Amino acid sequence: MVLLNDFVRQWAEIDRDATAALAAVGASGYYILGPSVAAFEERLARLCGPRHAVGVGNGLDAIAIGLRAAGCQPGQRVLTTPLSAFATTLAILQAGAVPCFVDVDRDGLLDLDRVEEALARSPSFAFLLPVHLYGRPLALRRLRALGERFGVPIIEDCAQAIGASHDGVPVGTVGVAAALSFYPTKNLGCLGDGGALLTEDAGLAERARALRNYGQSSRYRHDHIGCNSRLDELQAAILSTALLPRLAGWNARRGAIAQAYCRGIANPALATPRADCPGAVWHLFPVLVRQGEREAFAAHLAAHGVQSAVHYPRLIPEQAALRTYGKYEVLDSLERAREFAARELSLPIHPYLTALEIDTVVAACNSWRPA
Ligand SMILES: Cc1ncc(COP(=O)(O)O)c(C=O)c1O
Repeated sequence: MVLLNDFVRQWAEIDRDATAALAAVGASGYYILGPSVAAFEERLARLCGPRHAVGVGNGLDAIAIGLRAAGCQPGQRVLTTPLSAFATTLAILQAGAVPCFVDVDRDGLLDLDRVEEALARSPSFAFLLPVHLYGRPLALRRLRALGERFGVPIIEDCAQAIGASHDGVPVGTVGVAAALSFYPTKNLGCLGDGGALLTEDAGLAERARALRNYGQSSRYRHDHIGCNSRLDELQAAILSTALLPRLAGWNARRGAIAQAYCRGIANPALATPRADCPGAVWHLFPVLVRQGEREAFAAHLAAHGVQSAVHYPRLIPEQAALRTYGKYEVLDSLERAREFAARELSLPIHPYLTALEIDTVVAACNSWRPA
């Protein structure tokens, strides 16, 4: 089977470095918020651009802590996308704010035309929370210009896009803060949960450091209602020495596989993503089938030894949890997002795919004939 992710092959590559990191942390006797987290934060900030990186427990918390550290207040409205991991919206809810949804563009990312219309119509959005979905960067100069023009701070959800850039501008650098996830399937996935917040703002970074650690600004002094969301020393050490140094190579490999798919898949029943996006890091490779054909296509792929998955089958505002909770706004028809939810299927694109496996995926796509 050609797998969506292959952690066994990844372990074979990183085993020696990861085991050494484990031994070093074990021997240090320092397990929480010690030198390994500090060293990783420094390396991560250097790699991504913003001056400060704050390691947290996961990507969801990175967004929620980012919103809160940036001053988001309960009841404030946050403009975001209906097509993402539910965690993006959950973070807004955790901050007590109200998610407001506009439609996506033809790539499945938050539609900046709709964002502009919404911001022009109403001055009451407190934050903009865009997602660089599938490892594809939004138009970052335009995003920054929109935030500046309407005076709306941006928190970028870069969970799927570490290392991506648009026209030379890296993701995570156009807002007041940006969130990363190190969930194992991510381009920089650790051996468990992990996340980080990036920011240029020293005060915001300091508040985030307090929020992740019970709201303590110093030992036993609690100035904020915080939480426990600390990146642990072990994950930080493994990220620093076994994973981060390999990220550029892995992202390049994902890019090469994406190009091979775009060149090789030539089936009129399938729409592949636009290949002309040099700054994308291809966390996923989403193809679109015609309405009603996805299940049969997934079964065809499986029969040809190819695993696949849907990102995402249901729009966030149509999830039962949000419907029951009730505090959200849908600002337009969400027609395109609904189309993605009905038609999208992701092909394997992890960096360990062999040439033979890539050919297997391409052949399986090209031999698909809808009924
Ligand atoms: C776009 C996006 N945002 C946020 C998250 C949340 O990250 P985590 O699973 O680390 O909490 C994810 C991961 O699933 C994601 O894909």
